[in-house]
Amino acid sequence: MSDTSPRQLSVRIFRVRPEQPAEGFFQDFQLLETTGMTLFIALNQLREEQDPTLCFDFVCRAGICGSCAMLINGRPGLACHSLTANLPPRIILAPLPGFELLGDLSVNTGKWMRGMSERLQTWVHSQQQRDISRIEEAVEPALAEQLYALDRCIECGCCLAACGTRQINRDFNGAVGIAKLSRYYLDPADKRDTAQYYDVIADENGVFGCLSLMGCEDFCPKHLPLQVQLAFMRKKMLEFTC
Ligand code: FES
Repeated sequence: MSDTSPRQLSVRIFRVRPEQPAEGFFQDFQLLETTGMTLFIALNQLREEQDPTLCFDFVCRAGICGSCAMLINGRPGLACHSLTANLPPRIILAPLPGFELLGDLSVNTGKWMRGMSERLQTWVHSQQQRDISRIEEAVEPALAEQLYALDRCIECGCCLAACGTRQINRDFNGAVGIAKLSRYYLDPADKRDTAQYYDVIADENGVFGCLSLMGCEDFCPKHLPLQVQLAFMRKKMLEFTC
């Protein structure tokens, strides 16, 4: 007869205050697993019942906002999308590396993403004044789908946390930056020429810095075609120099 009693989970969580980074430590918590429990549910239960000072981020609980990314047993992932049933009974949680630490599992991915966006200028550049009464120019369905696929990035930071290059070079813009820029390169509404793209992405912090370890694509929770976009932008930048 199979044992149907709920599993006892042991959750080991990295605790730290940014003002005392050297005093970080792991703290163990115990709780009973419930049906359909995600790490989001488990962490909230721990905060409500065991330690109100536990610090972590959530907004949407649906894999959309990207704020709950953390290291789950050493691998970057979204806590709200991680069922405890898919994990062993001993779970270790730590903050994503490479971002400003706000406390425990909370990191400031937004600050980094904004800096990257300003460095790479990830927005539509157009000389035309926006006339909202005009109907937008039609885009080929295949291209629209490609743009839509890239717009699905939730800026969670998992690709950067899984990126070997980023662990060596803190200024590397990562797959998130390169894929975002490629989205504008493909967009006919963006009027920049290749030289303008070259200026911001064709260096060791961009397409020529990537070591092609491809951890980014392995751990992207939205399964974005990061390898393809990286190869595409690298090829375009190489062609520009020939
Ligand atoms: S809470 Fe929004 S992605 Fe997890």
